[in-house]
Amino acid sequence: MYKEMEAITADPTTASWWQKAIIYQVYPRSFQDSNGDGIGDLAGIETRLDYLVDLGVDAIWISPIFPSPMTDFGYDVTDYCDIDPMFGTLADFDRLVVSAHAKGLKIVLDFVPSHTSDRHPWFVESRSSRNNPKRDWYIWRDAKPDGSPPNNWISEFGGPSWTWDEATGQYYHNTFLSEQPALNWRNPEVQAAMLDVIRFWYARGVDGLRVDAITHIAPDVDKGDNPPNPDWQAHMSPTHSHLQVHSKNTPESYEMTRFMRKVSDEFPDRALIGETSGTLEDVMRYYGDDLDLFHLPFNFALLTAPWDAEHIAGLVETYETALPDGAWPNWVLGNHDCARIASRSGPAQAAVAAMMLLTLRGTPTLYQGDELGMESAPIAPHEVQDPWEKRVPGLGLGRDPARTPMPWDTGAQSGFSPVASWLPVHVPSGGPVSAQEQDPGSMLAFVKALIALRRSEPALVEGSYRLVTSENDVFVFERSLGCDTLYVCLNFSNEARPVDVGGMCLLSSNPERTGALLGRLKLEPNEAVILCP
Ligand code: NOJ
Repeated sequence: MYKEMEAITADPTTASWWQKAIIYQVYPRSFQDSNGDGIGDLAGIETRLDYLVDLGVDAIWISPIFPSPMTDFGYDVTDYCDIDPMFGTLADFDRLVVSAHAKGLKIVLDFVPSHTSDRHPWFVESRSSRNNPKRDWYIWRDAKPDGSPPNNWISEFGGPSWTWDEATGQYYHNTFLSEQPALNWRNPEVQAAMLDVIRFWYARGVDGLRVDAITHIAPDVDKGDNPPNPDWQAHMSPTHSHLQVHSKNTPESYEMTRFMRKVSDEFPDRALIGETSGTLEDVMRYYGDDLDLFHLPFNFALLTAPWDAEHIAGLVETYETALPDGAWPNWVLGNHDCARIASRSGPAQAAVAAMMLLTLRGTPTLYQGDELGMESAPIAPHEVQDPWEKRVPGLGLGRDPARTPMPWDTGAQSGFSPVASWLPVHVPSGGPVSAQEQDPGSMLAFVKALIALRRSEPALVEGSYRLVTSENDVFVFERSLGCDTLYVCLNFSNEARPVDVGGMCLLSSNPERTGALLGRLKLEPNEAVILCP
């Protein structure tokens, strides 16, 4: 049975909630259906809050729930200040906030500022005529003399990032689908309208926002073509065939983030989290010179890292070294846009991965289902929902495999819905939640014990980080606060490995390992251990 063998307690600290928190990402379509339409909803999330409390997480980030034609599953918004009927009503949302807060859970919402749906009333107006007052709310340009788009930019989902509008004879810019026209954030009216959206949700009690696609918020469309990427190969996403030098992370992207942060700071204790990517330097700049941009610019380094102890330890060092003074780190191991970690690392390594995520220095974001060891689900061609997979099939870019519903129990549709769900339900090898809750050796039991240990060991939350070794497929690091020191020992191989540290075992992924360990630790294959020397 996984259990904490000893807990060291320390004084409560003064860190902000978003520094101490474990953030849990809820993908609302796939969390819990309460109204029998095969799609998850807000009332469904509310019925599962106790599961999250029991798991031990502190905050939930809910992917978009706003009115949307769902062409990109909610990342195409038609009204920023309402709830899509598919998910419920504003009253349902208010109830969810009250219930979550009563249970000690914070709520973080997705904020999608870079683009709207093409059915958003703003865009409907904008495309109605060249003289419409909202024309400049979006990015319109003339065709080149030969009729081709203004530049060679490729959309994130393949194809040109420009869409021709026959009626008004101009192209509009779209970073993602044509149905997701890019807002023109250089227009102060757009800034004002969108910053009011932040106020709207904060006034309703939301504790933070995860800002979508910030990197694309202020493209320099008049700077011309993006240069070709010499490292691009045909199996890669078409968007990477060019270096996004003019389209991504422009100086104005940082300026717009500063505007958002200013509004965020009008409200006490809110957290602004950014979907940041690019070079490490690009990402670090999203903290701001005076730490006045994002509290947490998402750190996606682990999402694409090869599963190799030395490589990952190096990446952690590089990230830690690059952090600006006073900046708080964060780690992401999975989300709704990439393959599941248990598939990337191999299922036998799922516990190693979970321990690493939850013990590295910084705020972890845990994706729903990863606590169960869920793998990427096989999706048959006729089941494909993701527009990216539909547009660029066969490259493995599709995101459906990581978006299948939560398997709650052994009933029909695994308790997710009374009817066939929008994506097929896939149950992990360790069983659904109900089975894993009864099994003291399950992945869920391990993750719960890990979170409980993290909560009782301030060194794991606020302690310093030091690499001990990354040789021989083993990644060992130290977390230390005051006189408390812990070693996190991760065996990335499927063979036993000796490690040059010893002490008392506080937690192991191997349920057989109990009690004190006085000598040198020998890690079992795929084992993850936390030691107190
Ligand atoms: C990033 C989101 O995570 C992804 O799901 C979405 O398709 C794009 N941004 C566009 O909003």
